[in-house]
Formats: sequence, C-alpha cells, structure tokens
Amino acid sequence: MIKGFKAPGRINIIGEHTDYNDGYVLPAAIDKYVSLSIERTEGDTIHLNSVGKEALSFSETRIERSGNWGDYVKGIFWVLKRERDMFFGGMKIQITSTVPEGAGLSSSAALEVATITALNSFCNLGLTESQRYLMAQKAENEFVGVNCGIMDQFASVMGKKNHAVFLDTATMEYEYLPLELGEYSMVIFDSKVHHALSSGGYNARREEAANALKLLGKRSYRDVSMPDLFVNREKLGDLYYRRAMHVVSENMRVLEAKRILSNSNFENLGRLLIQSHESLAHDYEVSCEEVDFLVDVLRELNGVSGARIIGGGFGGSVLALCESSETDNVREEVTRRYEQKFGIILDSYTVNPSDGAGEDLLLEID
Ligand code: GLA
Repeated sequence: MIKGFKAPGRINIIGEHTDYNDGYVLPAAIDKYVSLSIERTEGDTIHLNSVGKEALSFSETRIERSGNWGDYVKGIFWVLKRERDMFFGGMKIQITSTVPEGAGLSSSAALEVATITALNSFCNLGLTESQRYLMAQKAENEFVGVNCGIMDQFASVMGKKNHAVFLDTATMEYEYLPLELGEYSMVIFDSKVHHALSSGGYNARREEAANALKLLGKRSYRDVSMPDLFVNREKLGDLYYRRAMHVVSENMRVLEAKRILSNSNFENLGRLLIQSHESLAHDYEVSCEEVDFLVDVLRELNGVSGARIIGGGFGGSVLALCESSETDNVREEVTRRYEQKFGIILDSYTVNPSDGAGEDLLLEID
C-alpha cells in the first residue's frame, strides 16, 4: 500500500507583511492541495515526479539548489539531514497539485509541508506540528533563499476546516476562529501576473521595515504605537514612515477583523479588506497596476463587500468577499473587464477553509 499525504495552500484574510514584523496574521488553509506519496527504491537516489513538470532526481549525499521546483522538496531533505542527521535511502516521490503557482496561495509552502509530513510518517520521525512548520520555513529561508515569515507554513500545517487561525507571530500563540460565511463566499481572482520583482521586492520590504524600526529606536513593532509614528515622522522620512505605518495599522486591522469575525459581520470585514489593500498598495507598495484594477472593479460591483491583494504581492491574487448569490455575475463581469483592459484571461474560483496537512485518502493505493 502506498500512503499519500496532502498539504493545503492558504488564503490570508488579513495581516499582510506583518508575520516577519512580530505582528498578527489571520490565514486559513484552503481546499487546494499538494499531494505526495513516497515509495522505497534501491540505492540512494531520490526521484521526484510532479505531474506536468520535468522529472528530477538527486543524491542525498549531495543536495544542492538547482533553481527549479525541486528545491522546495530538496530543502526539506537538506534541513532534516542537518538537524536529524538522517540517512533516507532511495525513494520515488510522486506529486500532484491543485494549488495554482505564483498566485499568492502558497504553493511552495504546501509542497514543503507535504514533503515533511510524508517523510515524518515514512521515516517515523515523530515530528510535532511546530517542528514541521518551523523546519519547512527553514528550508525556504536557508535552502531556497526566500526570507519569508512563518504564516504560510504555519497555515498549511495548522489549518482547520471552517476556521481561520489567528496567530500572534511574536509569541506563536494561536486561536481558531469559526469562519461561518453564511450567505457569503470567498472568491479568488488570480491576476495571472507575477512580476519578476517578487522575491527581490519581498526581501527589500523586509529590510525597509527593519530599518524603519531601527530609526524608531524600538526592538519590536509590538512596541510601536500610532503616536510613535506621528512623533517620529520627520526622522523616518516619507518612505520609512509609510512602511512602518502599514505594519502598525495592519496589526490594528487584524485585531479588528478578529472582533468582527466573532459577529460574522462580513460587510464590516469587507471594509477592512479594502483598507488593508489601500495600505498595501500605497504605504507598503507591494501591489501592481493589474491587481489594483481588479480591486477597483470589485469595489464597484453589487454583492462584493470587500477585496484585497493577498500573499507576498507584486502580482498574484485578490481575495474578495462576495454574496454567494452574486458570485457568478461578479466573476463574469470582472473577467470581462480585466480581459478588455489587459488582454489577460484571469482565473477565479471559490475557496473554503480546510484542514491542515495530513494523510490523503485518495492516494491510498493497494
Ligand atoms: C509571503 C510569505 C509570508 C508573508 C506574506 C505576506 O506569502 O511567505 O511569510 O510574509 O508573503 O504577508
């Protein structure tokens, strides 16, 4: 029998670019998954097959970055060898995925988490949930070379069906919040643009936020209040002021969203999404023309309570909160106007909050 494992992508309701700034985030795992199964083979070569991609293989005695999709899998082997001194032996790894790539839905974290979850079981590693998401983040930071925060790997491991997870990244304390959407749906609009700037731009924003913090003379954004920003406006200069303003105001919005969610008031939640988008576009500057256009169109349409860019930015997707009865009309209208403006046919779909990584029953083969 081959046992399969799957790990979900994620959306983030609110709390963008706060996870590496000691802030709050409110993600949810979604019903789009990377599925993975492992079979033992002779020798010490690890073979990777992913549907629709070129097959790869590597030796566990020499794990090196190759700048392609396999790095997310290799990174997990690399971390486990370093931290657990593992010898894995030959393996054949089969992967399929329904998480769109470059869409801001964390397909890379889902692949890392699916890999570590499968290896945890296959090699009886006994890793806890937190060990799994922390190691997956290390693979991304230290092997792949993207200086991401913890949100994506955390959400992919810890997600819970029909819930969002409120996480305080400063303490790693978390709380599940029921996400009972009632007559609303969460709809993703994938702009299909992915600006080359993304990982460079991401790392640059991280640095700018850290520099602003230094200028404020604080050790953590948790110690920075709105009045601190006003008082230090001149010292910060325009750019650092706006970067810090995003972090501080976005944290306030996450706390507000948490309160709003407990009353399932999706009209008010929508308004917060719009404010978050404005802040990401103008203060943190991680949006782009195509995504701004999508948000502008969505804001005008009947049945949409709010929308914003999600994920690292510089392209990717918009999350919209939409009355379910209007979803088809909204998708049609946005698709039409986006194609008219940019000549790009976007993808759109509804997503549902789902459980985190685990066994994938569909892959169990006798
Ligand atoms: C990417 C990173 C996350 C987070 C978001 C922005 O998805 O992987 O850690 O920083 O961007 O909120």
